[in-house]
Amino acid sequence: MKLQENADLTSYNTLRVPARAAKLVRLRSEKKLKELIKSGFFESDTLPLGDGSNLLFVKKNIGSAIKNEILGSEIVKETKETVLIKVSSGQNWHELVLFATKNNWSGLENMAYIPGTVGGAAVGNIAAYGQNQEDVFESLTAIDLKTGKLEKFLKSDCRFSYRESIFKRELKDKYFVTTVTYLLSKTPQYDVSYHSRYESLADELAKVATPPYSIHDIARAVTALRQYKLPDWNTVGTAGSFFKNPLVGKRQLKKLLNAIPELQYYPAEKLSYLPPDEMGNDSFQLKVPAGRLLEELGWKDKKIGNVGTFERHALVIINYGGTGREIYEFSEMMREDVKKNFGIDLEYEVRII
Ligand code: EPU
Repeated sequence: MKLQENADLTSYNTLRVPARAAKLVRLRSEKKLKELIKSGFFESDTLPLGDGSNLLFVKKNIGSAIKNEILGSEIVKETKETVLIKVSSGQNWHELVLFATKNNWSGLENMAYIPGTVGGAAVGNIAAYGQNQEDVFESLTAIDLKTGKLEKFLKSDCRFSYRESIFKRELKDKYFVTTVTYLLSKTPQYDVSYHSRYESLADELAKVATPPYSIHDIARAVTALRQYKLPDWNTVGTAGSFFKNPLVGKRQLKKLLNAIPELQYYPAEKLSYLPPDEMGNDSFQLKVPAGRLLEELGWKDKKIGNVGTFERHALVIINYGGTGREIYEFSEMMREDVKKNFGIDLEYEVRII
């Protein structure tokens, strides 16, 4: 464990926002955390911190933060068909995806090249290209930050929904996730049907590999798409999608389609766009891409002062050296514009602190 006081958090959030923590603990073991809690070390609110890839610090100063550096993984159970793997929460998510795909274990490949830790992936219930974290999730363990007790949470306890879990809501900053267990398949069912106005996973796969395709080839194709479509978080201040894709009813969708005829949309709980005749009946709530709405209003490749949006994706904010407050104000302008023009309230996907 390493302790820093009045620590600069600029390099601990991918938006590269300058903020400070009164106490920053870089944590390597579960045991140490239990000891710290029991000794009363954390006096105030404590922020569990993964790679900070979905965070916007608007406050300049926060209390305590615990940077998750707990590493390791173990296979809990293996059968002919499945592998149950328990992974420490500080492990890098993409490294886990590569480890799984190289072993031909399926369930994570479409979620390749997402920044962040395994703990962050569970808390934020990440998803991409038609695959969801929650679909392979078995359970997690987490330490109660008040009592120091280790508890197990099954899938139903986590209340996963679109980019949400109980740890982002009711239990926000109440627990520190220590391990996540995933059930992966040894008999892969490929899904490369994802396509948008600019990209097709199936086409990209054909570019990067030759049939018969492996799970690892899919991860490589997803990586190539993401590297093109999103800015590199190692060199540019970014947090990926800034807002969630909004839900709309059929009537509202009709209006939107009048304004943007080629707008893609999809059933609320799916992540893939379907042809209109597969969309089902009128009761559907539909999700539309916030990026497309923002592009329509001129928010793609826009820059105001120290903040802007990416040249290839309007939902992705870039920090060119601004403060958290400047980024927040820029994002509120985007929200107000969407509200004014389309009557839609965009919800933040990033966590604002
Ligand atoms: N689009 C535009 N202009 C833009 C951006 C997007 O027209 O500036 C259109 C695209 O052509 C497409 C649609 O909007 O028709 C959707 O775009 P895209 O395929 O890029 O996906 P998204 O809905 O913007 C979501 C997730 C991403 C995830 C991708 C792929 C959310 C908020 N974002 O993005 O997740 O990688 O799907 O599955 O749900 C993240 O959460 O940080 C993230 C990057």
